[in-house]
Amino acid sequence: MAKKELDWANIGFGYVKTDKRFVSTFKDGAWDEGALIDDDMISMSECACVLQYAQTCFEGLKAYTTADGKTVCFRPDLNAERMKNTAMRLEMPVYPEDKFIEAVEKVVKANKDWVPPYGSGATLYLRPFMFGINPVIGVKPADEYQFRIFCTPVGPYFKGGAKPITITVSDFDRAAPRGTGNIKAGLNYAMSLHPIMEAHRNGFAENMYLDPATRTKVEETGGANFLFVTKDGTVVTPKSDSILPSITRRSLMIVAEKVLGMKVEEREVFFDEVKDFAECGLCGTAAVISPVGKIVYKDGEINFPSGMDEMGPTIKKLYDTLTGIQMGTVEGPEGWVKVID
Ligand code: PLP
Ligand code: COI
Repeated sequence: MAKKELDWANIGFGYVKTDKRFVSTFKDGAWDEGALIDDDMISMSECACVLQYAQTCFEGLKAYTTADGKTVCFRPDLNAERMKNTAMRLEMPVYPEDKFIEAVEKVVKANKDWVPPYGSGATLYLRPFMFGINPVIGVKPADEYQFRIFCTPVGPYFKGGAKPITITVSDFDRAAPRGTGNIKAGLNYAMSLHPIMEAHRNGFAENMYLDPATRTKVEETGGANFLFVTKDGTVVTPKSDSILPSITRRSLMIVAEKVLGMKVEEREVFFDEVKDFAECGLCGTAAVISPVGKIVYKDGEINFPSGMDEMGPTIKKLYDTLTGIQMGTVEGPEGWVKVID
């Protein structure tokens, strides 16, 4: 079999239907074995819990072709664990973590021709998701669920790839204290659709959300955590109970400290101090690390010294090291890269 003929270097972050997807059904209190199928369509009751009460959650991870031609995934065990935590918060059955990793492997193997070649700039994005499918009209969790994984080849999440973006500070809040901000529930993204469209209409690539209780602290964006770099080179990331525990951010903090010997801090970050940072970036599976050049807010704007042309030097070093680990050119901590053969 041969790689699909796609213009790998120029694909955006969009959905392309690939050959196979995995589906497993939860019924009568148990998950079935699951299978790879061809059909990308889903049929369900008009009263399915997911349609009425948004009982759905998801994950995101990528498969890469390494420099020596292997196909790998990055830390899928952490996606399995996070989906477990999300499911428990949403009263959904947990899809077993070992089965989750097996399903990831099956989907990547069955769609190997869709894994972009090394050096193309593209990757294969995997989207595990789960939803309540049986009819529910009183407000309660479903009894029947589907767990699925599909995959789609993707390019950069933000247009322009590694070029710095301009973001704005949203007037809306993303997640309440003690709410669902720390899990990957579909509802967190439904609420962000209006703010992101407002941001786009005003010419901004993304929203910075502040903590809803005091609106003084930086939380995250709609689809990525923040990383800042101080003028003396310390990597700082916001600590909050209402942001998603990004696997990319947690990995980058380890890379910064243990691989690159940088000073790192995970702490509350006040919006007032953002103007004093030298560099800013958004990190996530889709975003990788996208540099932020400018933040526009009600009372002014922050122009980071790293500018609008290129990534700042520290963020570039982090980007090169992380992507090097993912693509097999840099040795990473043990167990981070799962080979799928
Ligand atoms: N924050 C939000 C709200 C996200 O949707 C994502 C994407 O998954 C992230 C952060 C980054 O998380 P990860 O690095 O695990 O992809
Ligand atoms: C990811 O990075 O995997 C995400 O889920 C972010 C976004 C596409 C919502």
